[in-house]
Amino acid sequence: MSTNILKKLWNNKKDDQTFVELGEEPELRLPQTNDELDLDKQYKQIMFFYESGAHQLMAKLEILNKEFQFCNDRNPIENVKSRIKTRESIVRKMKKQGLPLTYNHMMNQIRDIAGVRIICPFITDVYQVARLLISQPDVELADIKDYIRNPKENGYRSLHMIVTVEVRFSDMVRKVPVEIQLRTIAMNFWASTEHQLRYKKERIFTDEMHRQLKECADIMAEADEKMQKLAENLNVSDVENLYW
Ligand code: GTP
Ligand code: MG
Repeated sequence: MSTNILKKLWNNKKDDQTFVELGEEPELRLPQTNDELDLDKQYKQIMFFYESGAHQLMAKLEILNKEFQFCNDRNPIENVKSRIKTRESIVRKMKKQGLPLTYNHMMNQIRDIAGVRIICPFITDVYQVARLLISQPDVELADIKDYIRNPKENGYRSLHMIVTVEVRFSDMVRKVPVEIQLRTIAMNFWASTEHQLRYKKERIFTDEMHRQLKECADIMAEADEKMQKLAENLNVSDVENLYW
C-alpha cells in the first residue's frame, strides 16, 4: 500500500489541498475511461479504510460482550450492526452541507461514513458499554450527543458518539472516525418504526401525528425507566452507570 491514495491524502491533509474530485453525479454512471476506473479504485480503497475501522470496533464489542457474559451471565449488548454510508448518501450529505465533492472534504467533514449501532437491554448498559469503549487507549472520543438525557423534540432518544479507532495497516497506524449510536431495545423500537414511517419520501406529518409519535416515545421512555428500576432491585444492572 506504499503509494496508495490514503497516503497521498494524508500527506496533503495539512494544506487541505483538493486531491481528487468525486464528480457531480458519481452514482449515476459507470466509469468509462481509465481515469474514471482509477477514481473508482481509489474510492473503494478509501471505503476499505472506513470498513476496517468498523471491523475493529465490532471486534472490541464482541470481546466486551463475551467477557461480560462470563462474569455476569447476561449480555449488555442485545444486538450490534455496522454499516458503511453509501456513495449516494455521502454525496447527498456533502451537497446539503455545500461542501466541494472532494475526498479531502469528505474525509475531513463527514464523520459518519462508518457507523456502528449498539442495542442494549437497559439504559445503564448503554452508558457502561460507551464508557468501556472509550476507556480503551486506541479509541478516542471526538464528540458526544446525549439524546437520552436530552431527547430531541420529536422524542428521539439515543447516545451518539463520534470516536476514532486506531487501525494498523501494513505501513502505519491510522485513526478511523466511526459514528456509534447506542440505545435500548425500547429506544430502538421507536427509532426504527419512526424511520419506517418517514423513510425516503418526505411525508408530511400533521401536528396530531407529531403528538402521537412523541406520545409513543414517552411510553418507551417510561417502560425503560420501569425496567431499569426492576433491574436495580434485582441487582441485574449497576445504578452507578446511569447517565454519562
Ligand atoms: P446527520 O446529518 O443525520 O448525521 O445529523 P447530525 O450530524 O445532526 O447528527 P445527529 O446526531 O442528530 O443524528 C445522526 C443520526 O441519528 C441520523 O443519521 C439517524 O440515524 C439518527 N437520528 C437522529 N435523529 C433521529 C430521529 O429523529 N429519528 C430517527 N429514527 N433517527 C434519528
Ligand atoms: Mg448521520
